[in-house]
Amino acid sequence: MEKENETKAEQEEQEQVVNPWEVSAKGSGKIDYDKLIDQFGCQRLDKTFVDRVFRLTSRSPHIFLRRNVFFAHRDFNEILDAYERGEKFYLYTGRGPSSEALHLGHLVPFMFTKYLQEAFKVPLVIQLTDDEKCMWKNLTVEESKRLARENAKDIIACGFDISRTFIFSDFDYVGGQVVGIFGFTGEDHIGKISFPPVQAVPSFPSSFPHLFSGKDKLRCLIPCAIDQDPYFRMTRDVAPRLGYSKPALIESLFFPALQGETGKMSASDANSAIYVTDSQKDIKYKVNKYAFSGGQDSVENHRKYGANLEVDIPFKYLSFFLEDDDELEHIRKEYGSGRMLTGEVKKRLIEVLTEIVERHRAARAAVTDEMVDAFMAVRPLPNMFN
Ligand code: TRP
Repeated sequence: MEKENETKAEQEEQEQVVNPWEVSAKGSGKIDYDKLIDQFGCQRLDKTFVDRVFRLTSRSPHIFLRRNVFFAHRDFNEILDAYERGEKFYLYTGRGPSSEALHLGHLVPFMFTKYLQEAFKVPLVIQLTDDEKCMWKNLTVEESKRLARENAKDIIACGFDISRTFIFSDFDYVGGQVVGIFGFTGEDHIGKISFPPVQAVPSFPSSFPHLFSGKDKLRCLIPCAIDQDPYFRMTRDVAPRLGYSKPALIESLFFPALQGETGKMSASDANSAIYVTDSQKDIKYKVNKYAFSGGQDSVENHRKYGANLEVDIPFKYLSFFLEDDDELEHIRKEYGSGRMLTGEVKKRLIEVLTEIVERHRAARAAVTDEMVDAFMAVRPLPNMFN
């Protein structure tokens, strides 16, 4: 493809691309999530779900549910119907360990999954796709496995309950079985084409005989960002033929880059994201210097026209992480009308993010190697539904 020969109009006509490997908006604008729901054939998660989850769990709905950060689903209604009848389900999510430190966007599905685990009291399996990253990012097997364990600490720091959680690395848990069956060595990778089934199989209870033996009908709910949908579309396609229920999904928006909402954050640009390893000083610097502002170019114009909240990153970030609904509403009004300035909003955001990051840092520092081993031990979880 010779990009140079394309006219501007042609480029603008290009469709948005969203899949596990690439997220890019049309004409580098914003992701059109409504269109994505149409293209993918999933459903919008409307307010009735928020109320229903509240009723079923008697817990206040998580901020990501209230704010529609998780905005789409597949068969989540069926999971709730079954739960209402007294049937259980299990949760499955994962992470491709491609970097040493996680950024806030990476934490979104885990924070939400922790809430679901607590609210519904269900078991959870977490896949670390060290095999995937080894292939795509050209890491050695050893380095991918090391990153998987480091990332496991950040995941554990989100507060998962060890009596209901099994974390596994593909190389060790899935690979172990393949090594046994086919005699592959650790250095042979199974190939990019055969990775999707590896991400698919944890959707089926029989993949975890130490947890779900004799429970082949147990349903699976997968919280994830919507770029993972293609894997599970495929999984849902084959599930009935294999005699399993289709996994249900609950899918989130992307957490936008500091520079603006044109897709996901890039792990390769340290200034595009807030990392869980950033100091208060880093956070302050990054927010003040890079967070794209929808404010006007002069105070005078700002007072007159107000901020454009549609593109304003400080406001977007607050809508993900500022718990207090009334305060967010206050900022929406004051900032949107120009009475509040970008500087004030950024200052509040710096406080909110610093608190989250500091809390995470303290929690992670308390996670020992022994705890990682304990979460990753192949073991029964006798009280996982209690
Ligand atoms: N492929 C995902 C990533 O790169 C990791 C992953 C594996 C995952 N299984 C999952 C994510 C299930 C969500 C749900 O991050």
